[in-house]
Amino acid sequence: MLIRRRRGYEIPESQVTPEHLVVNRRALMGAGAALLPSAALAQQASGPVPPLPEHQRNLRYRPEREITPEREATTYNNFYEFGTSKNIVREASRMPMRPWTIQVDGMVAKPATYGVDDLIRLLPIEERIYRLRCVEAWAMTVPWTGFQLSELLKLVEPTANARYVSFTTAQLPAVMPGLRQSWYPWPHVEGCSIAEAMNELTFMPVGMYGKPLLAQNGGPFRVVFPWKYGFKSGKSVVRITLTDRRPENFWFKIQPSEYGFWANVNPEVAHPRWSQATERLLGSGERVPTRIFNGYGEFVAGLYTNMQRERLWA
Ligand code: MTE
Repeated sequence: MLIRRRRGYEIPESQVTPEHLVVNRRALMGAGAALLPSAALAQQASGPVPPLPEHQRNLRYRPEREITPEREATTYNNFYEFGTSKNIVREASRMPMRPWTIQVDGMVAKPATYGVDDLIRLLPIEERIYRLRCVEAWAMTVPWTGFQLSELLKLVEPTANARYVSFTTAQLPAVMPGLRQSWYPWPHVEGCSIAEAMNELTFMPVGMYGKPLLAQNGGPFRVVFPWKYGFKSGKSVVRITLTDRRPENFWFKIQPSEYGFWANVNPEVAHPRWSQATERLLGSGERVPTRIFNGYGEFVAGLYTNMQRERLWA
């Protein structure tokens, strides 16, 4: 599959910040970066992020668990572009989040590039509380704000031969020190089948806890598959491509024996290095049994009924 590696800063002419502003910002960053707290850095590096419009919580998706304290969910993160530690808040806060565009291309009748704020205006946004289960056996329960991926795909009209969807994450070398670790197969690409993409659970968050999505959690725009291990939920997405070939995902390229394409949660199938039988809840630290499809089987089990030969789990 040919993927043109589009970087987050390649944006339509109309949205480009005037050069003198960029130059001033860079000069400021260079001169003052070491002295400024990270929140101030983020404001310099990025245009303003507008608050989320009013929206409702969708009660169809019952969390059946306490919501994870916001502080835990926003300070314990996996985002390798910013480093391999769980504490990448300071690094991530330097990521410019406006302007931000998402290119939707490949096997679609109407390829398009959208500004993230245009999507928030165009599509029905709502809050959903989902459980997220990492293959490292920790879990959180998060109120995401966003829209269903299927709503976005309707705009671009997938063609009949589109069988898979890939999600490509931003590569911003100036603010992502992890990109210098050249043994990783950057950019971070994840994928799913077209049926999974059209499933009602597949969600594109632009917010969390009622506020715009923070950089460390994949702001300004990510994907979430609540029934799959968290590594499938790519962060800071800049490109969505419809294709007839199965995308090779980032973690699969690193270690194919540990990270398969489907990666659905199953407590009975151990990862080579970790049992998947239980999970630790961020916040309380409580250990609870893991459920098949992370408890979302009623919505997704039917997607896999004729796939006995596939490696459906981790
Ligand atoms: N997306 C990108 N671009 N880079 C990453 O390193 N890590 C993944 C996933 N998405 C990752 C990513 C993993 S392993 C997990 S568990 C989740 O993001 C974690 O999401 P969270 O930090 O919001 O909890």
